[in-house]
Amino acid sequence: MNNLIIKNAAQVVTCSGFEGKSGAEMSNLNVIEKGTVIVTDGIISHVLKEGEAIPVNSSDYKEIDATGKALLPGFVDPHTHFVFGGHREEEFSWRMRGDSYMSIMERGGGIVNTTKATRAASEEELYISAKKRLDDMLKLGITTTEGKSGYGLDRETELKQLRVMRRLNQDHPIDIVSTFMGPHATPAEWKGREDEFIDFNINEMLPLVAKEKLAECADIFCEENVFTLEQSRRFLIAARDHGLLLKIHADEIVQFGGSELAAELKVLSADHLLQASDQGIKAMAISGVVATLLPLTAFSLREEYARGREMIDANCIVALATDLNPGSSFSASVPLLFALACIYMNLSPEEAVTAYTINSAAAINRADTVGSIDVGKQGDMILLQYPSYKFLPYYVGMNCVETVIKRGEIIKN
Ligand code: NIG
Ligand code: FE
Repeated sequence: MNNLIIKNAAQVVTCSGFEGKSGAEMSNLNVIEKGTVIVTDGIISHVLKEGEAIPVNSSDYKEIDATGKALLPGFVDPHTHFVFGGHREEEFSWRMRGDSYMSIMERGGGIVNTTKATRAASEEELYISAKKRLDDMLKLGITTTEGKSGYGLDRETELKQLRVMRRLNQDHPIDIVSTFMGPHATPAEWKGREDEFIDFNINEMLPLVAKEKLAECADIFCEENVFTLEQSRRFLIAARDHGLLLKIHADEIVQFGGSELAAELKVLSADHLLQASDQGIKAMAISGVVATLLPLTAFSLREEYARGREMIDANCIVALATDLNPGSSFSASVPLLFALACIYMNLSPEEAVTAYTINSAAAINRADTVGSIDVGKQGDMILLQYPSYKFLPYYVGMNCVETVIKRGEIIKN
């Protein structure tokens, strides 16, 4: 029985809402000063203002005195690749020397490099290393995350990655939303036969993934020299036919029309978007696509940041994610994510908090259950060691999260 009263928080930053927020709405965090939140049986049952009487029998509840601390919804990370074998520290050195991410990929490094190590790893090895990454994420306040396959690029290894996520979803406090990303890159055995590799993903993989309910979403790396717009369209439409929700890695390295395609297909979220065109931004705003921005990737690749400010001004629903992966962003640093989003993408602290709570929940179809402190939602919350959410980007690169609460249970204290 997870019953908890969190009393007298300097701020209850509710982020209240049950769907993604666009444009100016992103600035409203609906903060209650000196508020109290009650979780009954793991679900938020009361959100009280200062002075309101506690309407439950306190002796059935654990209590936290949150005086001087801000209470927020647990963070939701809507884009990670946290299950993988091996590392790519050599490639990092090459990039620092001037090699580009794509040139490393074209000479057999990058995603395909991680594919070798992921194929060679046992399911148990993948489970253990991925679990450690989740432990680190939890300490930073992430209580729900998305995770992608896409380092197998063959039947067995893609399924192995998805099974690891399914097991971790059961065993670990963090909730996991799984995404099938078979077309993440073309492995050596399919090189030059990209259309056939897409056929393999459509005809063999999607039916398996859907039948075994191994993923809720499907994703593809739509990029010059990776998968074309037409291949992406074909794969995503087939995925939708199998009942999967759609995501797309779009306009990351070059302007390629990925955001326009995202709008055309009304996908759930389009991610990266460093090079999204004005047209693409407008189209995403109109079609309600969540624009998921990954500033740790731009930082790690020394690329220009996505135009977050302009996207919000164009009325997009903007979300943030870490993109944790062994190549382009080997980091789940939530503190740095907030700092970069505010300092380099010109989001206000309020917009950044919305982007990593209710909007990121919307990017993985969870805005009805997590991402805000609202009655009826899961009791997933974090307490900061400071009295205001404004410390999140301001305490640069440092972890403000003192307590993590998952379904009303105190996990980190
Ligand atoms: O989101 N861009 C494609 N996929 C990942 C990187 C994967 C990797 O380099 O291993 C991304 O950045
Ligand atoms: Fe990614």
